[in-house]
Amino acid sequence: MIVTTKELFKAAYGKYALGAYNINNLEQAMGLFRGNLDSQAPFIIQISRGARKYTHKLMLEGLIRGADQVFPEAIFAVHLDHGDEETCYDCVESGFYSSVMIDASHEPYEENIAITKRVVDAAHAKGIVVEAELGQLGGVEEHVKVDEANAKLTDPKQARDFVERSGCDSLAVAIGTSHGAFKFSGSQSLHFDVLSDIQKELPGFPLVMHGSSSVPQEEVARINAAGGRLLGARGVDANQFRQAAKLGVTKVNIDTDGRLVWTRVHREYFLEHPENFDMRPPGKVFMAEYAKFIAAKNEKLGSKGELDAVRKILG
Ligand code: G3H
Ligand code: 13P
Ligand code: ZN
Repeated sequence: MIVTTKELFKAAYGKYALGAYNINNLEQAMGLFRGNLDSQAPFIIQISRGARKYTHKLMLEGLIRGADQVFPEAIFAVHLDHGDEETCYDCVESGFYSSVMIDASHEPYEENIAITKRVVDAAHAKGIVVEAELGQLGGVEEHVKVDEANAKLTDPKQARDFVERSGCDSLAVAIGTSHGAFKFSGSQSLHFDVLSDIQKELPGFPLVMHGSSSVPQEEVARINAAGGRLLGARGVDANQFRQAAKLGVTKVNIDTDGRLVWTRVHREYFLEHPENFDMRPPGKVFMAEYAKFIAAKNEKLGSKGELDAVRKILG
């Protein structure tokens, strides 16, 4: 059942964070639904602009509608990840997405507010909720590359002004994470002091943590042992998710870790089966491994076992 992120955030706030997982294909969709049901967790499916363009925007939509029928117990939101204004309007008009992110965080402050407010007005008119972003993460997104030195942590006082004036429903904050597999050139550090100050300015308001993949070292080692070359890859300590959730983080974005599972499975499979040229055997391994990965992540996020409680709240 597709619900809005707002409904999910109400159930989660202060207790746990929802996993927001990016998907691009059929195998991820299957593994995602299985993993969330195995761990009895509500969840958020994220579709980036790149994912919409990978085949055709209607293809992923069709996959998710299919999964909703195959797994009728699942409760989830469908969210546009890192949207620009035009794509937000397209998703709002589609009648499929329950939530969109407008990412104008690279624009000057007043421009970020103005763009976000326009998207909020259009989305709210259709009952769709809006995530916005203030501050800048390091790392690579499809439209901007920000190096660590130029990443800007969210200013707590500005966060309050931004939310009041833009009318957004949740806010992605920059607290030291970055996108991709190469986070933290120095020691890993989330700025809980900044997060705590943001929560004081915005009590009860849902916050979002992007760039939250853990980049497990064991996964990286297996990829490299099977012919990969990911040198110096590192991520966020998943044991910090609970602490972040207590400070108002209700949505944790994870994409890179899922890509690492895909890479490890396929590299190992083809190394061990050089005679194979059928996509289904490794695809089956991947779906099972991805489901396991999702269930383990939900345990770290605290969303494991929360599906029934959410169902009751939704009535
Ligand atoms: O923040 C970016 C997400 O990981 C999406 O990545 O734009 O390559 O699909 P993508
Ligand atoms: P990772 O690159 O850490 O998985 O972050 C994903 C993300 O923030 C998607 O919006
Ligand atoms: Zn992101």
